[in-house]
Amino acid sequence: MSQAGAASHCITGEINDRFVATRALSEALAAPLSDADATIQSMDDASPTKWHLAHTTWFWETFLLRDHVPDYRLWREDWPFLFNSYYEAEGARLARPSRGMLSRPTLAEIVEWRTHVTSAMTPLLDDPALAPLIELGIAHEQQHQELLLTDIKHALFQSPMGPAMWEAPGAVQLDPVDAITWLAHPGGIAMIGHDGGGFAFDNEGPRHRVLLEPFALADRLVTNGEWQEFIDDGGYRNVAVWLSDGWAWVQAEGIGAPLYWREGDHFTHSGWQPRNPHAPVTHISYYEADAFATWAGARLPTEFEWEAMAQRNDPDAGNQLDGAGPPLPTGGKSFFGDCWQFTRSAYLPYPRFRPAEGAVGEYNGKFMSGQVVLRGASCATVRGHSRASYRNFFYPHQRWQFTGLRLAKDA
Ligand code: AVJ
Ligand code: FE
Repeated sequence: MSQAGAASHCITGEINDRFVATRALSEALAAPLSDADATIQSMDDASPTKWHLAHTTWFWETFLLRDHVPDYRLWREDWPFLFNSYYEAEGARLARPSRGMLSRPTLAEIVEWRTHVTSAMTPLLDDPALAPLIELGIAHEQQHQELLLTDIKHALFQSPMGPAMWEAPGAVQLDPVDAITWLAHPGGIAMIGHDGGGFAFDNEGPRHRVLLEPFALADRLVTNGEWQEFIDDGGYRNVAVWLSDGWAWVQAEGIGAPLYWREGDHFTHSGWQPRNPHAPVTHISYYEADAFATWAGARLPTEFEWEAMAQRNDPDAGNQLDGAGPPLPTGGKSFFGDCWQFTRSAYLPYPRFRPAEGAVGEYNGKFMSGQVVLRGASCATVRGHSRASYRNFFYPHQRWQFTGLRLAKDA
């Protein structure tokens, strides 16, 4: 498989280069894995690595090659059934919990298909009429690179062997964090949503006005050390700080710490490693984030407060993914990177939102019920992918993504 290290992975520049670099990075992320590693599915929410490599390839074949290359013939007629994720307009598909049953096609066969599709795309990459769809395909594959990383982490975690897919990065000495400095915002009418320059997902628009009351946001994320204080103070046993649904979840699942914690260690892509108290806490649910904020005498930001503040920040700064290697939160003052930040906003359409015509209209809009918005980017988000208007979304109990929190308060 090809390797895309930091040097060859180009996030800016021509669409052509970004397409090739994106295809190569997916393969580089999977390179340390065996076919068995790449085939298993650890839970219904997660997909096998092999499935991610195939589904992103199905996306190019279905939405670009099939419709825009004259007489294009599908690589295999029966594979769309396997690798269509959720597009009703594209017909029947394998149920998501069964993705781990695909011992065949093999990893090598998927990679062969990838190579074919990547080169078949070449004549389309220079067509300006197709640029919006190609940008969507690149952003889509980047989202799956992050999912590939979080899904394989969850899969490897299931093994009593504590397997590592990459060596641990050389010991990084993290300085103790300073007490939070509160960044004040006067409130007023904020312009929220994508401003129209460059690619954005449909759920980031239309740009519209939102009225903000005065508020303040913390200048950094909550750390592992602060989370330990919450645990030591009985936070997981104190019903007073929990939402009702959150308390029911803690009881039913027997939750007492973030996902992947074990004594002073946590599970990483480099196996079990000591946890750094100064690094941002990650792998928490919305319920946990909300309970911590209540315990701390603060609250979670709304997605609009977060965006209004983040508009002053560089979306390509901070700890984000620069190539194939182990993602790990390290901390800093950037609004982007380390962990996706929970907001208290429900994932809903903005005023006048309309999904696109056709199958790609199913991309984001149909998921606007029962989920919460997360903002920023994580250490597993490829640098260049996110922006101030970017809206990630998950269900309130889910915590296998690199999720964390930034506190907010009323001013
Ligand atoms: C935005 C991460 C919630 O996981 O379904 C991938 C990303 N959309 N393919 C998801 C996505 C279509 C999406 N999330
Ligand atoms: Fe997808």
